[in-house]
Amino acid sequence: MGRAVKRIVFTEAQIAERVRELGAEITAAYPEGELLVLGLLKGSFIFLSDLVRHIRRSLQVDFLVAASYGDGTVSSGTVRLLYDPETKLEGKHILLVEDIVDTGRTLGRLMDLLGQRGPKSLEICALLHKHIAEELRHPTRFIGFDAPNEFLVGYGLDHAENFRHIPYIASLQ
Ligand code: IMP
Ligand code: MG
Repeated sequence: MGRAVKRIVFTEAQIAERVRELGAEITAAYPEGELLVLGLLKGSFIFLSDLVRHIRRSLQVDFLVAASYGDGTVSSGTVRLLYDPETKLEGKHILLVEDIVDTGRTLGRLMDLLGQRGPKSLEICALLHKHIAEELRHPTRFIGFDAPNEFLVGYGLDHAENFRHIPYIASLQ
C-alpha cells in the first residue's frame, strides 16, 4: 500500500460552498465577451466540472496538459506541454483553471505562452493557493482556499496518480 490520508483539510461541504461562490464571482467578473475556461489537466478536472456549472453565462471549455511533477512531493520546476488546446484563444477572455498554486512555476510558464496568443484577457482561477512563492509574475485572480504548506490530495489532486477521486481535500501521512 502507498501513503495514507492524515487529516481532512477541506470537507466536501466546504468545497461545494466555496465553488458555488467562485462561480458567482466569475459570473460577475465577465459581463461581456467570449469566455474560454481552460482547465489544466489532470488536477483541475473535478474542480473545473463543478465550477463551470456555477458560472451563469455562455462559455467554452478546453484543456491543457502540462507535467511538472514526477512521483515525488517536491516541485521539480520543469514544465512540459503534452496537450495544447484546439480552441483558438485570440480575442477571448481566457480563464486558466488550476488545482493548486505551489511554487507558481507551472503557471508562470503557461501564462507567458498563452499570453502570446492574443487573448482579450488572461486570468487564473486556482482552487488552492499555498502563498509560498516569493514573487509571482501573474497574480491569481480567483482563489478557492488558502492552503497550508503541506502536500494535499483529493478532489482532483494526486500523489503519484492516487487519491484524485476522494471527494474532500486531505493532507498526506
Ligand atoms: P507549481 O508549479 O510548483 O506551482 O506546482 C503546481 C502543480 O504541482 C499543481 O498543478 C499540482 O499538480 C502539483 N502540486 C503542487 N502542490 C501540490 C500538493 O500539495 N498536492 C498535489 N499536487 C501538488
Ligand atoms: Mg499533480
